[in-house]
Amino acid sequence: MKARADVKPGALAKYLATQDNKDLLRFLTCGSVDDGKSTLIGRLLYDTKLIFEDQLAGLERDSKRFGTTGKDLDLALLVDGLQAEREQGITIDVAYRFLTTGKRKFIVADTPGHEQYTRNMATGASNSDLAVILIDARKGILSQTRRHSFIVSLLGIRHVVLAVNKIDLVDYSQEVFDGIVADYRNFASDFGFQTQQAIPVSARYGDNVLTRSVNMPWYEGPTLVEQLETVDVSYQPADMPFRFQVQWVNRPNLDFRGFSGTVASGTVYLGDELTVAASGKGARVKSIVTYDGELPLATAGQAVTLRLDDEIDASRGDVLCPPTSRPEVADQFQARLIWMNEQALIPGRRLLIKIGTQTVSASVTDIRYKIDVNTFARLAAKTLQLNDVAVVNIATSEPVAYDSYLANRAMGAFIVIDRVSNMTLGAGMVDHGLWRATNVHWQAITVSKETRAEIKGQKPIVLWFTGLSGAGKSTIANLVEKKLLGLGHHTYLLDGDNVRHGLNKDLGFTDSDRVENIRRVAEVAKLMADAGIITLVSFISPFRAERQLARELVTGNEFVEIYVSTPPSVAEERDPKGLYAKARRGELKNFTGIDSVYEIPENPELVLDTTTRSAEDLSEDILAFIASRIRYT
Ligand code: ADX
Repeated sequence: MKARADVKPGALAKYLATQDNKDLLRFLTCGSVDDGKSTLIGRLLYDTKLIFEDQLAGLERDSKRFGTTGKDLDLALLVDGLQAEREQGITIDVAYRFLTTGKRKFIVADTPGHEQYTRNMATGASNSDLAVILIDARKGILSQTRRHSFIVSLLGIRHVVLAVNKIDLVDYSQEVFDGIVADYRNFASDFGFQTQQAIPVSARYGDNVLTRSVNMPWYEGPTLVEQLETVDVSYQPADMPFRFQVQWVNRPNLDFRGFSGTVASGTVYLGDELTVAASGKGARVKSIVTYDGELPLATAGQAVTLRLDDEIDASRGDVLCPPTSRPEVADQFQARLIWMNEQALIPGRRLLIKIGTQTVSASVTDIRYKIDVNTFARLAAKTLQLNDVAVVNIATSEPVAYDSYLANRAMGAFIVIDRVSNMTLGAGMVDHGLWRATNVHWQAITVSKETRAEIKGQKPIVLWFTGLSGAGKSTIANLVEKKLLGLGHHTYLLDGDNVRHGLNKDLGFTDSDRVENIRRVAEVAKLMADAGIITLVSFISPFRAERQLARELVTGNEFVEIYVSTPPSVAEERDPKGLYAKARRGELKNFTGIDSVYEIPENPELVLDTTTRSAEDLSEDILAFIASRIRYT
């Protein structure tokens, strides 16, 4: 039998409904199982009587069988049972538990404590008001304590409780407690915590958890529960400027059109004037519609549909706000970023960011510095690895509306998503916008891509050759270009070796330089296609992400990815430029296929096997493949 102290999503709403008249505090617990975290949460559940009779019987039985606490109840079993279940099912990363006392109700985000779990911690912390940071009295402040406190402050949590646990194991010593508190004050002084209450506790015996300890007459502060019940965390989204992130445009019939979403902050009343942050267009609120009928006002956290008195243009991702208090709108900003993926962050690589309901294409343009979470030193960095925390500049493909995270969490938090796999790669917090020339506008061009192509009697296309050095890309591309010219086409060949002597002569062969190399070449290929030219691109282009970017830059079926498939051993044997030999001798670093990766294309339009067929035959195959695509009809 297992304790069922955590609750499924549906039950959450029910629980909250029954507790509606009490005020709510969300907090998270940081620390590892060794610090006594499970025991502390178990103790809170037990002392606040959230364990039911049958669970208690089960716990007594389990404690005798598996417990580590002799004849006492092992409260950690309550929580660890759930943890084991979690590890097997791997359904949730953060477990939410629910507590209630006479004065307040609580939602506790319980996050795993190991270093690699920063991601889960960040998830748990992002909607918490307070953090309980656990410290083992015998060990004092550890690197993990620093890391957790830092992330907690980074995520904008302004209230912490320092629970100095296992105080029974140091004989309830005031000296030990005072020492730890002084150490903590020292390093956390810059974190901007508004309240920082240290409490000596024994989760195992319950000292200073719910009831005051008789063993520590020297401690005069609140118990843990008293602190949680009374701390004033007043972060009041309802008092803040109104922000509404449009989730979708609700248009069930011709007579009804409304913007659906959740109020991110503030309050809106019938008749209020609202503006679309990005376009500046405005209208008044005609009605506030919910599933249960119409409302006179809507406030932070409520899901509503807003109908306006004028048909203004807005869609998913737009932010509605008062005309007098608008969020910033920009396409470049500085942010703090926590990287959560095994795969490194490389500046320049295209990613998606989701901020509120807006999802836009973006890239990190600069890693300003990385932060050492132990010493808080600022370090130079070219890439970010798993768990790295950094201050970065981000550029988005179109302007986004946001507030700084410190001013408004719902409007300033974002996640970074992989464009291909859709995985969450990192979490970020906007600091402030960056200036960018706002008066660079697209020229209204009357000569179009079509007219340029038409006069050449062809349709443009980009033939993108990718493969290892020595695979045969350039040889085949040259043959194809000659044949196309022979047929009267207008062509241009962009070749790695040539472009690297001019446009890209500032770039080397690190991962980030290759990303930039291909980004520039993809942009040039796009311009060439726009000029109506059949463009051949011959670059190793080892990364899928940048090939995908190139594909997305050109329209429709104009992009043809040609994988020149030559096994590494064959390419190395050919070694036309003697570079493999050099790399083997260690004279050439980051050589593709030796100490730098080549990611094989997953869905290229063509795969050319150079071991069984000649370059001449393969070039004919390509011509046959593109014949209908380049014909101007
Ligand atoms: S890419 O990886 O950024 O696409 P690119 O195609 O521009 O590479 O350049 C590859 C050419 O540069 C190779 O054909 C080779 O002649 C030369 N080269 C010099 N150093 C390296 C290296 N470390 N790795 C691969 N190619 C290199």
